[in-house]
Amino acid sequence: MVTVRKERPAEAATRDALLDLAYGPARFTKTSQRLREGRRPELALVAAESRRIVGTVQLWEVSAGPDLPALLLGPLAVAPDRRKRGIGSTLVHHALREAARRRYGAVLLVGDAPYYSRFGFSSEKTNALWLPGPYERHRLLGCELKPGALDGARGLISARGPLEQRPDLATLVAGLVGKDNRLVPYAA
Ligand SMILES: CC(C)(COP(=O)(O)OP(=O)(O)OC[C@H]1O[C@@H](n2cnc3c(N)ncnc32)[C@H](O)[C@@H]1OP(=O)(O)O)[C@@H](O)C(=O)NCCC(=O)NCCS
Repeated sequence: MVTVRKERPAEAATRDALLDLAYGPARFTKTSQRLREGRRPELALVAAESRRIVGTVQLWEVSAGPDLPALLLGPLAVAPDRRKRGIGSTLVHHALREAARRRYGAVLLVGDAPYYSRFGFSSEKTNALWLPGPYERHRLLGCELKPGALDGARGLISARGPLEQRPDLATLVAGLVGKDNRLVPYAA
């Protein structure tokens, strides 16, 4: 049985391996990645089959134009040997339900309309929005969670989410220096 739940910190490497398999190294060059790097996702979900992670989806906080808070969905991936069983759809439905519960008016993504239209995504109201880099305009899709949320949406889609926590240089150096101010020997 497949269950959808929040990703646990220890599962980040498994999720990354799944994304590598689905998208290859090109995933780091996508313009939507510019909205994610250095940020923490609003929500990261996994689909788990027994103890195996077989699917992943994330939601990221963005601003659609200057003043419309929205979520960016992606990347979405399902393990190649588990596709066409409804796992991708289950993940997207969970993500949209969760976005609505968090009172967001709209979810955006860059993806294939033939897949995402079944969930209510279209490019109908994204024509006056743009991303900070190259992308195929017809693949910028939006799904309104509150009717009319994307009416008049216009401008740059920009990152808004909380910043990823990384140790700063002072913390790293402090970890290398012992109480007597000598460098702690590094064990390789
Ligand atoms: C896209 C993806 C997440 C779908 O996962 P999934 O668990 O197979 O999805 P579901 O079972 O809910 O839906 C499968 C259906 O979607 C269709 N589908 C999958 N990718 C599609 C696409 N890019 N365009 C149109 N239809 C697509 C399948 O052909 C299948 O159709 P069927 O129900 O008529 O057999 C999965 O194929 C994947 O990880 N692909 C690699 C990443 C990728 O290519 N993403 C592109 C989408 S932007």
